[in-house]
Amino acid sequence: MADTYKVTVNGQHHLTVDPSQPTTLLEVMEEAGLEPHYHCRDGFCGACRVQLVKGEVSYITDPLAFIRPGDCLACCCTPISDIEIQQ
Ligand code: FES
Repeated sequence: MADTYKVTVNGQHHLTVDPSQPTTLLEVMEEAGLEPHYHCRDGFCGACRVQLVKGEVSYITDPLAFIRPGDCLACCCTPISDIEIQQ
């Protein structure tokens, strides 16, 4: 396991995730001062959907909203590699 994973948002913001303290992708983006879309924060509504351009995520909570291939739900997943997302 890497010490940290890098999260690149829209090719501009470079965030860091510590895998020993798993937080959701949504929380990582909020802590960095970004303003991601969300509603339920529980995998139901799909409002937090972002495009996963590169890398892998793991779901902390099983998402119930529909996820298109290449998308992920930021409120209930965490990176398990360096990732690139578009919001
Ligand atoms: S905020 Fe509703 S599914 Fe993520």
